[in-house]
Amino acid sequence: MEKVKEGKAELILSKNVFFNLQMEFCRDISSLAVGAYCEEVGRRIHLVDGLCASGVRGIRYMLEDECVARVEFVDMDEDACKLAERNAKLNKLKNYKVHCCHINDFLFHKRGFDWVEIDPFGTPLPYLQSALASFRKEGMLSVTATDTAVLCGAHSRACLKNYGAVPIDNEYCHEIGVRILASAIVRQASTLNLGVEFCLSMSAQHFFKLFARVKAGADEAVASMKKLGYISHCPKCLNREWRMNPPLLKEKCPRCGGKFEHAGPLFLGELWNVKFPRRMKEMNQQRNYGNRLRIDEMLGLMEEEAGMPPTYFDLHKVAEKVKKSPPNFKSFMNRLKKSGFKVSKTHFKRNSVRTNAGIDGVEENY
Ligand SMILES: C[S@@+](CC[C@H](N)C(=O)[O-])C[C@H]1O[C@@H](n2cnc3c(N)ncnc32)[C@H](O)[C@@H]1O
Ligand SMILES: [Zn+2]
Repeated sequence: MEKVKEGKAELILSKNVFFNLQMEFCRDISSLAVGAYCEEVGRRIHLVDGLCASGVRGIRYMLEDECVARVEFVDMDEDACKLAERNAKLNKLKNYKVHCCHINDFLFHKRGFDWVEIDPFGTPLPYLQSALASFRKEGMLSVTATDTAVLCGAHSRACLKNYGAVPIDNEYCHEIGVRILASAIVRQASTLNLGVEFCLSMSAQHFFKLFARVKAGADEAVASMKKLGYISHCPKCLNREWRMNPPLLKEKCPRCGGKFEHAGPLFLGELWNVKFPRRMKEMNQQRNYGNRLRIDEMLGLMEEEAGMPPTYFDLHKVAEKVKKSPPNFKSFMNRLKKSGFKVSKTHFKRNSVRTNAGIDGVEENY
C-alpha cells in the first residue's frame, strides 16, 4: 500500500479507494476556507466529510484547523470506510466516527452540523437536499462539481434535465456554469426556508468548488431567490445583459439586432464575499502548502473580482470582432480605469477583464 503526505496529513492509499492527487489544490483551498469560516462564526465546529473516500479532507481539516472539534466521515463503500478509519488512526485523530452508509441516510437522520462537505463523482445534485436539511440554523455547505462539461454547455440537454437551466457554451461558459450550480443550491435551500450567501466560488482544472453559507429564515430564502435571473448574450456583437426574474426576455440584441442567446435561471448575486478570500489569503501565508503561490494568486484574483458585475470580456474574442490584434493587457485595463470604469481580472480566464464598461466601453478603449 502506498503512503503519501498531503498538507499535515499522512495517508495510506489503496487501489480500491478513490484518491486524486491533482485535487490537492482544491483540498488546500477548502482547508483554508474551514479556517476562515471558524473565525467568522467564532466557535469550534462539527464537520461532516461526506463521500470521504480515504478520509483525506476530514483528516486535513482537523489537523490544519484547530477549530474543528469533531468529524463524521461518511462513505457507502466498505473499503473506503476501512481506509478512512485506518487513516484517522494513523493521524491520531480523537474525536471522529466513520459511518458506512448512503450520505443521504446519514444526513437526513442526523442534524446540527456546522460544515458539510459534498465531494462526489460528477454532480452534487443528489446530495444537496439532505446536506441543506442537516444544518440547524446556519452552516457552511462545501460543494464540489466535476460535471463541468454539462454546466458549461457542452451537453445542454443534460444541463436542462439535471439543473433545470439552460447554459451557453461561450467564452465565459465557466462563470455561467458556476452560476447555474449556485442557482440550484439557492433553489433547494429556499424550499427548506434557508437563504444562501456564497463566500467563495471557484472554477479550476476540471472542477467547480462553491462555499455556500446558509442561514435559516423565510426572508433570507426570498432574498436569495430574488437574485436568480438570466444572462442574455449576443454572439454577433458580444453585448450581454442580465436581468433578475424578468417578466420577458428580449429576443434581439438592442445594440446590433442579433439574436440573443439566454442562459438561466442562474444566480446573479455575489459569488464572493471579499472578506473570505482575503482572510484565506492571510492564512495561506502561515501554512506550508506546496501550492502556496498558486493559492495566493487565485485568492488575489477573487478578491479583485468580488463586487464586480457578472460576465467578463475575453480580449481575444473581442479582437476577432473588432478585427484588431489584442491590446497590451495592462494598458487596456488602465485605459478603462482612466475612462472612469471599474475593472478587474478574473480567476475564470486569463486575458479577460471584468468591467462595468459594457461592450461599447470595451471597444472604445480597445
Ligand atoms: C470523489 S470520491 C471522494 C473524494 C474524497 N473526498 C477526496 O478528497 O479524495 C467520492 C466517494 O463517494 C463515495 N460515494 C458515492 N456515492 C455515495 C453515496 N451515495 N453515499 C456515500 N458515499 C458515496 C464513493 O464510494 C467515493 O469514495
Ligand atoms: Zn449584438
